Amino acid sequence: MHEKRIPALSRRQFLQVAGGTAVALSLPGVLTACRRQEAGPLKIGVLLPYSGIYAVLGESITQGMQLYFDALGNEVAGRPIELITADTEINPDVAQQKVRRLVEQDEVAFVTGIVSSGVLAGLRDYFHDNQVLCLCSNAGSNAHSRAAKTPYIWRTSFTNWMAPHAMGTWAAENVGRTAVISVPDYAAGENNVTSFTHSFTAAGGEVVAVQRTPFPNMGDPAPFMAELAATGAELIYAFYSGSAAVTFVKAYHDFGLGQQIPLTGAGFIVEEDVLPEQGEAAQGVKSTLFWSYVLDNPQNAQFKTDFHAFTNRDADVFAVQGYDTARVIDEMLQRTEGDTAVDQLIAALDGITFDSPRGPFRLDAHSQAPEHNMYARDVQPVDGTLRNVILENLGPIVDPGDDSMG
Ligand code: PHB
Repeated sequence: MHEKRIPALSRRQFLQVAGGTAVALSLPGVLTACRRQEAGPLKIGVLLPYSGIYAVLGESITQGMQLYFDALGNEVAGRPIELITADTEINPDVAQQKVRRLVEQDEVAFVTGIVSSGVLAGLRDYFHDNQVLCLCSNAGSNAHSRAAKTPYIWRTSFTNWMAPHAMGTWAAENVGRTAVISVPDYAAGENNVTSFTHSFTAAGGEVVAVQRTPFPNMGDPAPFMAELAATGAELIYAFYSGSAAVTFVKAYHDFGLGQQIPLTGAGFIVEEDVLPEQGEAAQGVKSTLFWSYVLDNPQNAQFKTDFHAFTNRDADVFAVQGYDTARVIDEMLQRTEGDTAVDQLIAALDGITFDSPRGPFRLDAHSQAPEHNMYARDVQPVDGTLRNVILENLGPIVDPGDDSMG
């Protein structure tokens, strides 16, 4: 079981906290009272996958947060910060146990993290019923900005509608008019199917087939590649992330599809976390995302330098998400002057705006998710290293907050 306290406290302070931990209580009103930590260290629960196909995402998000808080001396609004991490794997049942422990035993003030839309769906009612704030730093399920919205879940990341919506239009205009979609068989994959189909069709394209592969582990990719080639579509749109993206893109290359049918996708499929392992297999893959390593703005330049100095590796979009989440936490707690009463925290989130490494960032109160730019990208060598070169800034995007656009 992975639970780790990230020391933002001296040992003496930590022992004081640990010694003072109250027994678990499960009445919502009592829980709220307990979480209102008015003085002393501010504990934040971090629910992320540190194992399985999304393990690298969890690590990058954590390091992005640590980098931001480290620069503040691990103190926000005059209060020391303590991050308590817990491994959710990609398993809603495991995540349920972990969130209960963080909230009811560790008495965290609020929770962040969550990579998989399936895990977010599994925890949604817990956050809602117990009035626990979750600042979700990845999982993009559209429903949680729409029908399943609750005041207690806000995204600092994106919704799964954004990248495929942007690519649907862009691909119809720039790549081809018939598409086959390939996604993992779970909520995030389904969001990508709906969103891409909507904008691709609106721009005059036609989706000729949809392939759903087993999640989290797709197994042998060979049959899926044969199926994609047999459709005769002019392009593939795919959503994969983490090690599934490595498997898919390598298979696409190894089975010769690169010569036959262009690959497009949500940017996670060729993000910096997977590009080095994919190597030349990824070259020429077109994707849409709200950030690129080569994005030219002062915040990104500083962030990349600092992240490399902190971790000894290059930043990726998940590190940006962690960094921006910490920034949102910082802004939120400054607005409440360090008070963690949940209603105050929620009120403070509305309209938080800053210049992120991704470009302008604004928290939209309607969708409870960011408004940010989308970029059309192409994997090309830059000074001998494969990067997502920006073909076009597609401008700001915000989730519609309902299903009217896919
Ligand atoms: C999701 O499950 O919503 C998800 C997972 C990985 C990503 C993006 C979205 O890279």
